[in-house]
Amino acid sequence: MPLIDLDFSGRHVAVFGGTSGINFGIAEAFARRGASVTVASRRQENVDAALARLREAGGRAAGFAADVRDFDAVARALESAVAAHGPIDVLVSGAAGNFFASAAGMSANGFRTVVDIDLMGTFHVLRAAHAHLRKPGASVINVSAPQAVIPMRLQSHACAAKAGVDQLTRVLALEWGAEGVRINAIAPGPIDGTEGVKRLMAQDEAQRAQVVASVPLQRFGTLEDIANLALFLASPHAGFISGAVIPCDGGGALESVKPMLEATGRQLAAQERAAS
Ligand code: NAP
Ligand code: COA
Repeated sequence: MPLIDLDFSGRHVAVFGGTSGINFGIAEAFARRGASVTVASRRQENVDAALARLREAGGRAAGFAADVRDFDAVARALESAVAAHGPIDVLVSGAAGNFFASAAGMSANGFRTVVDIDLMGTFHVLRAAHAHLRKPGASVINVSAPQAVIPMRLQSHACAAKAGVDQLTRVLALEWGAEGVRINAIAPGPIDGTEGVKRLMAQDEAQRAQVVASVPLQRFGTLEDIANLALFLASPHAGFISGAVIPCDGGGALESVKPMLEATGRQLAAQERAAS
């Protein structure tokens, strides 16, 4: 699918968690559309690999190893990013961690880990970036998930964390609106080829077929589906959109996808009950 034809030349786009999957797809799309791109994630080797691909895509690119759970590390990465590319026009917060675990079976640290990455991480990224955002004009995009609104077994940590991300999106849209900063979130459906789909939804062909059958548009999403929404949200064409959490999911935000999204969790929960 082609990318929307928008020009981001001279713009600085910073993507946290931007070295793989959906978030890298967003970073690469902005690079293809002329932006100077910053990516950050935990592992230096992932940062280096992402930078090589971004430079192939034609963009000026900088990258930093930073764990979003560490506010000071995020702040340092942002200072270096701004030194390299100037004030931030587009900020994407998409780092996340997830695994199946029941609330009764998971340690407090397991729950905390996901909340720390997804929710605290998003707060850290937005809080530390606030001073560096172009005002007026910056666009902030958080990456949410269906778990924010659909309760799912074995997903208490991710459901709580992503619900928090959605509310943070709305509250900061209120607080930063007067400065001319827009804040929105994208809630992707199942995006083909990503870690999230591999871990949570489709480990084999039969499960892939179930996913497709349960999405109203009858297909997986692509990295370009999400990147196109991010390009639009960051553009002047979306200049009156703020505080919105927008599903990009083939219609899956409708309740019909819950049985599919929850199929593995339901099965694992039943096994856990049988074993106890
Ligand atoms: P992914 O490839 O695993 O992407 C996660 C990224 O975050 C990686 O670049 C990872 O790099 C980085 N990261 C993880 N923990 C981090 C931390 N503590 N600090 C900094 N960076 C960290 O996953 P994905 O499936 O593409 O998912 C991307 C986003 O989309 C997530 O927010 C997820 O919740 C959301 N989402 C995905 C789907 C889907 O279908 N895949 C559906 C709905 C929502 P390092 O390992 O180098 O840190
Ligand atoms: N089931 C139950 N608990 C688990 C678990 C699982 N599958 N995986 C990790 N945990 C627990 C650990 O046991 C630990 O708790 P403990 O100290 O009480 O034992 C806690 O979570 C932290 O685990 P650790 O491996 O130290 O975390 P990490 O910071 O190295 O990695 C994760 C974070 C666990 C989220 C890891 O899966 C990750 O790096 N994910 C990023 C990629 C990803 O999830 N992508 C999909 C996005 S949708």
